Amino acid sequence: MASMDRSPSPEFSPLAMGEDLTPLPEYKAATTTVVDFDGLLAEPLKLHEDLKTGCGGQLWPAGMVLAKQMLRYHREKLVKARILELGAGGGLVGLAVASGCKIEAPMYITDQLEMEELMQHNIALNGLQGRVKGIILNWGEPLPEEVVSFQPDTILAADCVYFEPAFPLLLQTLGDLLTLCPSATIYFCFKKRRRADMHFLAKAKKTFKVVELQDDERPVFSREQLYLYTFEAKP
Ligand SMILES: C[S@@+](CC[C@H](N)C(=O)[O-])C[C@H]1O[C@@H](n2cnc3c(N)ncnc32)[C@H](O)[C@@H]1O
Repeated sequence: MASMDRSPSPEFSPLAMGEDLTPLPEYKAATTTVVDFDGLLAEPLKLHEDLKTGCGGQLWPAGMVLAKQMLRYHREKLVKARILELGAGGGLVGLAVASGCKIEAPMYITDQLEMEELMQHNIALNGLQGRVKGIILNWGEPLPEEVVSFQPDTILAADCVYFEPAFPLLLQTLGDLLTLCPSATIYFCFKKRRRADMHFLAKAKKTFKVVELQDDERPVFSREQLYLYTFEAKP
């Protein structure tokens, strides 16, 4: 069971659902899923899913959309990028990028302590130990020293908008990352489940330059209320 820490994140438990919580996906037994993102990965990714330490333990819909966007449209640009993923869960998006793009620098996938074991497990499951580091990064807290020296210029965040008390923490971390590297681009995908999710977007628009991303699959995923943007520092 997830321990209490300074950064609020809902546990995966039907009992934990209150009015602050978006209903989470139905409980699924631990399993290993193989995913090739509609053929975008020559060698499919293996992802162990296990909800015992938190909701990040399974694949979420915005993660699928963001991974496909990155593989379909940004492979070239990612080769030289310094990439960091926030709220990576089991590592769906980051591991897809590390596996499908010839990234030159090792990238970081990050989450709370509860997800560390699953991140490390999935990195090893795909033989990506040399190219991906899984570390703890709690939103709203000072950026880890390792991240400060890495100076990420490409941030990935999928399905991180689902728990209202964490919105200011996430906005703080996104802002800190753009202050650290003002030329960075944040690739951000979320699913609208409640009205409050659009308040997050309204706040993001006040703080960052927000641009909706083109994607051939947009007509399909927008029907599912999935939104895909880049956030950059305002000039
Ligand atoms: C819905 S999951 C998405 C996982 C993955 N990105 C995907 O798309 O499949 C959200 C993730 O955000 C992480 N998270 C929630 N609150 C956080 C916080 N305060 N600091 C860091 N990570 C947090 C959770 O642990 C979880 O792994």
